[in-house]
Amino acid sequence: MLLCAVVILTRRVFACSFCYSQKRLDGKTVVITGCNVGIGKETARELSRRGARIIMACRDTKKAEKAAEEIQKETGGEMEVMKLDLASLASVRAFAEELRLKEKRLHVLINNAGIFMCPYTRTEDGFEMQMGTNHLGHFLLTNLLLPLLTHQEPARVVTLSSIEHLRGIIPFEDMNYEKGYNRSKAYANSKVANVLFTRHLAKRVQGTNIQVFALHPGVVQTDLGRHLLGGYLLSLISFFQKTTVEGIQTVLHCALEADQNDETYYFSECNGAYSSRISRRDDLAEDLWHLSAKMVGMRE
Ligand SMILES: NC(=O)c1ccc[n+]([C@@H]2O[C@H](COP(=O)([O-])OP(=O)(O)OC[C@H]3O[C@@H](n4cnc5c(N)ncnc54)[C@H](OP(=O)(O)O)[C@@H]3O)[C@@H](O)[C@H]2O)c1
Repeated sequence: MLLCAVVILTRRVFACSFCYSQKRLDGKTVVITGCNVGIGKETARELSRRGARIIMACRDTKKAEKAAEEIQKETGGEMEVMKLDLASLASVRAFAEELRLKEKRLHVLINNAGIFMCPYTRTEDGFEMQMGTNHLGHFLLTNLLLPLLTHQEPARVVTLSSIEHLRGIIPFEDMNYEKGYNRSKAYANSKVANVLFTRHLAKRVQGTNIQVFALHPGVVQTDLGRHLLGGYLLSLISFFQKTTVEGIQTVLHCALEADQNDETYYFSECNGAYSSRISRRDDLAEDLWHLSAKMVGMRE
C-alpha cells in the first residue's frame, strides 16, 4: 500500500503542467520537422485536431505517410508529407524551395527533429551529426522559411531544446569535434545552440509578426534514447517519464499561447523558465549566428 502511494506520488512529481488553451488553428499552416514519431507526431495530432493544416517535414517519408494517414483518420484534418533530411543542406534547400513554390504563407514552424547522443558521425556536409542536425539544419531551414512566415497574421517559430542545454557551451574553435568527441556533451552543446539561435532570431524578427520560442518538453517516453540505452533499461525508466501527450504541453503552449518578451525565449512546464547563463549571452548568440551562416553557406 505504502509502496503504491510512493510510486503514484513519484509519478505525479514527474508529470507536468498542461496547456489549457482553447485556441484553434483553422486555416493556418504548420510545418513540423521530424514528426513521424515521438513528440513531433503527438504535436501534429493535436494541432490537426485544432484545425491546422499540417506539413510533416520528415526524412523517412514512408513512416511519415503512415503517421499522416493515422492522424488524418482520427482528426479528419489536412496532412501533407514532404521530404526533409536536416543532415543534408541540399535537402533543406530543396524542401524550402518546394514549400516556397506552393505555399503563400506559414503560421507556425516547429523545429522538433532531433538526434541524441549518437556515436561520432558526420552529416552529408561534414558537420558533426548532433550539431549538424539539431542546430545547423534548423538554422538554415528557419532562415529560408522566414519570407513565408512574414505576413500580416501572427506567426511563431518554436524550437525544441532541452534542459540538457544547461551543460552546453559553443565549441567555437572546434565545431566538428576534431579534437575529441563526447556524445553527451555534443548533445548539450547542440541544445544550447538551439536557445542561442532563438535569442538572436528574436532580435532579427523584432517588430515583425513573428514570435520565437525555445523549450524543454520534459523527459518524455520516445525513441530519442535509441543510441543510448538497451530496451530493458528504457522500459524500466519509462514509468517515470512523461507520456507523449504530457510531453507536448509546452510545445502547444509556445505554438498557441505564449508571449515572447525581451527576456523570455525559453520555456518549460508551460512557463518562462531559467536558461543557462551562456544561453543568455547576446554576444555569443550573435557570434554563433555568424558562424552558423558561414558554415551553411548563407549570405547575411
Ligand atoms: N524525449 C525527451 O525526453 C526529450 C527531452 C528534451 C528534449 N527533447 C527534444 O525533443 C525533440 C523531439 O524528440 P523525441 O523525443 O520526439 O525523439 P524521437 O522520438 O527520436 O523523434 C525524433 C524525430 O527526429 C527525426 N530526425 C532525426 N534526424 C533527422 C534528420 N536528419 N532529418 C529529419 N528528421 C530527423 C526522427 O526521424 P526518424 O524517424 O527518421 O529517425 C524523428 O522523427 C528533439 O529535438 C529532442 O532533442 C526530447
